[in-house]
Amino acid sequence: MTDTVPSTAESHAPDEAHPEGPAALTFAPSPEFARQANATADLYAQASADRSAFWAEQARTLLSWATPFEEVLDWSGAPVARWFADGRLNAAYNAVDRHVEAGNGDRVAIHFEGEPGDTRTITYADLQREVSRAANALGALGVGTGDRVAIYLPMIPEAVVTMLACARIGAPHSVVFGGFSSEALRSRIDDAGAKLVVTADGGYRRGAASPLKPAVDEAVAAGTPTVEHVLVVRRTGGDVTWTKGRDVWWHDVVDTASDKHTPVDVEAEHPLFILYTSGTTGKPKGIFHTTGGYLTQAAYTHRNVFDLKPETDVYWCTADVGWITGHSYVVYGPLINGATQIVYEGTPDTPHRGRWWELVQKYGVTILYTAPTAIRTCMKWGEEIPGGFDLSSLRVLGSVGEPINPEAWTWYRRVIGGDRTPIVDTWWQTETGAIMISPLPGVTTTKPGSAQVPLPGIAAEVLDDDAQPVANGQAGYLVLTEPWPSMLRGIWGDPERYADTYWSRFRGLYFAGDGAKKDEDGDIWLLGRVDDVMNVSGHRLSTTEIESSLVSHPSVAEAAVVGATDETTGQAVVAFVILRADAVTAGRPVEEVQQELRQHVARQIGPIARPRQVLVVPELPKTRSGKIMRRLLRDVAEHRQVGDATTLADSSVMELISAGLAAPK
Ligand code: WT7
Repeated sequence: MTDTVPSTAESHAPDEAHPEGPAALTFAPSPEFARQANATADLYAQASADRSAFWAEQARTLLSWATPFEEVLDWSGAPVARWFADGRLNAAYNAVDRHVEAGNGDRVAIHFEGEPGDTRTITYADLQREVSRAANALGALGVGTGDRVAIYLPMIPEAVVTMLACARIGAPHSVVFGGFSSEALRSRIDDAGAKLVVTADGGYRRGAASPLKPAVDEAVAAGTPTVEHVLVVRRTGGDVTWTKGRDVWWHDVVDTASDKHTPVDVEAEHPLFILYTSGTTGKPKGIFHTTGGYLTQAAYTHRNVFDLKPETDVYWCTADVGWITGHSYVVYGPLINGATQIVYEGTPDTPHRGRWWELVQKYGVTILYTAPTAIRTCMKWGEEIPGGFDLSSLRVLGSVGEPINPEAWTWYRRVIGGDRTPIVDTWWQTETGAIMISPLPGVTTTKPGSAQVPLPGIAAEVLDDDAQPVANGQAGYLVLTEPWPSMLRGIWGDPERYADTYWSRFRGLYFAGDGAKKDEDGDIWLLGRVDDVMNVSGHRLSTTEIESSLVSHPSVAEAAVVGATDETTGQAVVAFVILRADAVTAGRPVEEVQQELRQHVARQIGPIARPRQVLVVPELPKTRSGKIMRRLLRDVAEHRQVGDATTLADSSVMELISAGLAAPK
C-alpha cells in the first residue's frame, strides 16, 4: 500500500463528513417530463443485459467513425482499458463538421457573453471555419499529430476553438486553468512537454482586465525547453512584452489561415487531452484521456442526464474550460450532441449579482449545470435577486463538484427551478472523464443531497475496510467495479503512480478516494474525500501541495493544512504553521506574517489555494511515526472539541496549540 491511501484512523471517518438530508423528502419526475425524456427506465435494463453491447451501441449511435470498430473492450492490459480500439475517428469532426454536413450549419453552437457585455454568436458553420483556420495555423507553427499543446486562456471562444483545433490534428491539449500561477503553469507545460502555449493578453474578471501573458512569459523564462512558440489572442488590448521569433499573434496567423482543413483520423485510443489535477502528494497528476471512449460517454451522459434536445434546448454549463467539467460539458459533450450553448467569460456578480439570471432570461436557457458553491453563494445574496428575472425557460438543473447539501438542493429547485425542474446531482471526477452516478431526470425519484444511482452502463459499490460491500444504511469507500469508456488511461508519464493511486487499495477495483453511504433504498450519498485532498468551491486541492508551498517560504519551519467545513465554499483551506525562530524574533506583527503567507500560496499555486486562515502554532500534532494528525487540526479549525489524541507522540501538543490560539495576540 502507498501513502496515497491513508488508513482510516488518519482520514475523515466517512460517516462524520456530511449530514444526510431529511430522508422523507423526495421528488418524482412529473408525468409530462417523463413522457418526453430521452432516457427511460429501459436504459438500465438494456445496459445490465449486456454492458458491452450497450456501450458499443452508444458509441455507434452517438459518434461518426471514419473506420468502424469491431472490438468493444480490451481489459487484458488492466488497469489500462482499451475501448473501441480498432476504430478510427476525429473528435473535432464529430463535434463540428458532421453537424454542418447534416444541414445544421446555421444552428448556433455558442452564444458568447464577455464580462464587459460584448457578445458573439457562433454557428456550427462559423465554428468549422474557425477551427479549421486554427488547425492550419497550428500546423504552420510546427504542431503535428501527437505533439502536446498547453492552453492558458480565459473563458473566450478561442479556448474552445483551440481545443478543437488540437483535436483536429490529433495533438493532445493540456488546458491549464487561467487562475493558476506561472509556476503551476510551468510545471504542467514541462510535464507534458508542450511544444506550443496558447494564451491571451488577458481576460476580464470582476470588472477589470486581468493579464495572462506575463505568467506565460515567466513560466517559459523559468525553463520549459520544449516550448517553441507562444500563440497570443488579443482580448483586452493590454500591453504585452513580446519575444521576437517565439511569440505570435492569433490575428496574424489564425485569421489569415485557410478555413479548409481535413481532420486527421486517429485511433480510438489516441490521447485527446491531458488535464492536471491535485493528488495527495505535492506533484499534480496529468490525467490523460483518449478519444473514442471518452467522447462516447461524454455525449451519452450529456444527452441522457440533461435530457438534451439539440433543436430546442439552450444549454449552459458555468464551468471554466480549465476544469474537466468544461472539457466534457462545455466542449465535447454538448458539441458532439449538436447543442446550442452559452459561454460566459466572467464572474456571477459582475456587474451585478443578477448577471447569471439575466443571461438565463436573455437567452432562454433551458438546462443549467453549475456547482453547489455557486448555489450557496446565490442563497446568501438572497432569493429576490433571481426573483427579479424570468427563469421560466429552465427545465433541467444540474449540480457537480461536491456533495450538495439538502438545503441548497431544495433552494435550487424552488427558487431557480420554480418548484418544477428535476435536479440532477452528478458525481464524477477528472479521472472518470464523464458523469458516473446521477439520477436520470425522467426516471429517478430524486432525494435532495444524494447522487443516488450509477448510470446505465456504470457499476459502483460501497465497500468497507475489508473490501466487502456495506449493507444498506452503512458508510464506506466508493469504488467502481467495471471499466467504463471514459475512464482515464493513466497518469501522463507515470504508469506506476496510476496503478498505485487508484488500483491498489482494493485490488482490481477503481478506488475513487471518496467516502459514501448507501441509504435504506441502496441509494448512494457522497460523503467527501477520505484522503488528503480538499474540495474548495468544487476544485480539488492537495493539502501536501499547499504545505510544500508554505514550507518554501523563509519564515516557515513546518506546516500542516486541513480542509475545514465552510458554509459557502464547502471546504476552506486552513493552515497551521510553525514559524522559524528568526521570523518570530524579527518582531513583525503576526498578522503581517499571516497575510504574507496567504499571498505566498496564492502566488505560488493560484488564488484558489489561498488559505482562508493561517494559524501560527508552537507545535504540530504527530503520531509516533511522525505522521501529522490532520483530524485533530480539523477539529481546531472547525471549533470543535478536539477528538481522541491518544495516538499522539506527545499528548500535550493539542493543549499547547489550543492555548496558543486562544491567547490574545
Ligand atoms: C471530486 C472530483 C467532476 C467535475 C468536478 C470536480 C467531488 C464531484 C460530486 C458530487 C459529491 C462530488 C468528489 C470527487 N465531487 N462531484 N456530485 N457529489 N462529490 O472534479 O476536481 O476531479 O474532483 O469532486 O470528491 O472525487 P475533480
